[in-house]
Amino acid sequence: MTIALIDSQTALYGVIGDPVGHSKSPVMMNRAFAETGVNGAYMAFHIAPARLGDFILGVRAMGVRGVNVTIPHKQEVIPFLDAIDASAEAIGAVNTIVNREGHLTGYNTDGIGYVRSLKEEAVPTLAGKTILLLGAGGAARGIVHALVREQPARIVISNRTPDKARALAAAYEDQAELLPISQSELSRWCGEADVIINTTSIGMYPLVDALPMDPDWLRPGTVVSDLIYNPLKTALLKEAEAKGCISHFGLGMFIYQGAYAFEYWTGKPAPAAAMRESVLAALGQA
Ligand code: ATR
Repeated sequence: MTIALIDSQTALYGVIGDPVGHSKSPVMMNRAFAETGVNGAYMAFHIAPARLGDFILGVRAMGVRGVNVTIPHKQEVIPFLDAIDASAEAIGAVNTIVNREGHLTGYNTDGIGYVRSLKEEAVPTLAGKTILLLGAGGAARGIVHALVREQPARIVISNRTPDKARALAAAYEDQAELLPISQSELSRWCGEADVIINTTSIGMYPLVDALPMDPDWLRPGTVVSDLIYNPLKTALLKEAEAKGCISHFGLGMFIYQGAYAFEYWTGKPAPAAAMRESVLAALGQA
């Protein structure tokens, strides 16, 4: 990997998590800086929960320009910031911090990053579409927040714990048609949906054979999207392709949440193709 020359003008950026050693953000973001000529350097910082406040003091003291935030800090970081934008507030989690001359603002780019990737890679317009969401956790909330702006016909939510599907639907019912459903209605809605999105962890490494739904319910031509990117092609996506569905990979969400963060920090368009290439190379898939 080529590292741009670090000099006395280089701005520092980074990702915090616990653990963070597996993160592909440094590879992706340093590639984005190199590609666009931004004089920045991006590091991974392993921050234990008890040191989160100290880290933010460090950001202020050192003038760290931008930070990505991952598990377990996405909610806990909020009280340490000066402001959060409306989406981070509605979602209740921050994944990107922008430092503007000492004023720290938190954003959430996960949901909008996912929707941008879905539109660029699989369904150019979501208006009028029936979208079936599997799961109602934190990731699903960010996605619903971004999806309601796309004028879908309806968003159908299925979850193991039905109360959470109902609560998520209720939170956005004034912005779109949201329909929490029971497990017994899932087969019918799989047939009706234009887009099915798995936001659960079912199928994630190491339990890679697990499926969040019965693939026999899939209809050819449906877009089937999985947020999981380890493995890159989940069991659900393999089954979907075998049934004639269009698969959409979870890696895109990771790339575009980073693309938005890059754009918030630098004001320049993110080099998404190069970012993807660098992550695939780091995953050994290029
Ligand atoms: P995230 O922030 O990644 O969304 P989360 O908030 O813990 O994580 O949500 C995980 C989602 O996956 C939830 O919808 C969860 O269902 P419950 O609300 O019933 O817990 C779902 N999920 C995880 N493991 C599951 C499993 N084995 N079977 C069914 N649903 C599962």
